[in-house]
Amino acid sequence: MVTVKVPATSANLGPGFDTLGLALALYDELQVSVRDEPGATVEVIGVGAGEVPTDESNLVVRAIAHTFEAVGHPLPGLELVARNNIPHGRGMGSSGAAIVSGIMAAKGLLDGIVEFDAQRLLALANDMEGHPDNVAPALFGGLTIAWVTPEGPRFKKLIVHRGVSPLVLVPEHVMSTALARSLQPQSVPHEDAVFNVSRSALLVAALIQSPELLHAATEDKLHQSYRASAMPETDRLITLLRENGFAAVVSGAGPSILVLCSDPSQRLAAAELVAQKSETRWQPLMLAVDFKGATVTATAERQSDTPAA
Ligand code: HSE
Repeated sequence: MVTVKVPATSANLGPGFDTLGLALALYDELQVSVRDEPGATVEVIGVGAGEVPTDESNLVVRAIAHTFEAVGHPLPGLELVARNNIPHGRGMGSSGAAIVSGIMAAKGLLDGIVEFDAQRLLALANDMEGHPDNVAPALFGGLTIAWVTPEGPRFKKLIVHRGVSPLVLVPEHVMSTALARSLQPQSVPHEDAVFNVSRSALLVAALIQSPELLHAATEDKLHQSYRASAMPETDRLITLLRENGFAAVVSGAGPSILVLCSDPSQRLAAAELVAQKSETRWQPLMLAVDFKGATVTATAERQSDTPAA
């Protein structure tokens, strides 16, 4: 049996559309055991229980199957137990985490039989997700810059400045990434492209070296305004936060908001402002940056939910 742990992620970070991502210390955990009977069963505990499929159509199972197929190895019968904490449909990388969970589980099950380097893991995850900005930090942790070449996706991992204190504001409603992507134009004005190139370059410096530049560095003209009509509460709260000096952006495709604070006290101030001024309910998650990324460990037998006496 293998046990996998995968962090939540926030992608885009404002200007870095489909490129920048940050791993956050909130985790989905998965146990996978091999059984004689073919097919797969899935038990979901926590987020998604009673909602996500529990057969072979489950995204984690599909990611395991995709990995076995990619390496030309027959898929064994599988029993999965998923303990989920990452909210679904909120822009916190839950689908990327499910895909990475499956790929890492397959890596663990094939240990000693197939070697997986970082580039191959990212390629497998990107095949399924379609863009690498969530799966790169989910796999490798920290801040990642991901880009796509004709030979496949690539990434660079960076360690963020220790002051950087992320706050994620999670609403009760969900947003579809496919819908958000459909709202974007095929082309953008050249000056908007230049605007985003400058801000995303600055954002890397702000995140690793100069957190005082986070507000200036998180401006965006490539995606947020086009998607704002589909998530008006998100748009209004980001405007309020930014007017008050906080570096607030849409987290991934939304509707959650990521506030990149330059220190923990600024994060408390942002959460207080939201509690006092927002018209709708937002769950504030004060999360550390995860520096490790996804892990997989071989376990002798399934852990019981009952603590040992
Ligand atoms: N870069 C992606 C988007 C992240 O904004 O559509 C969400 O999957």
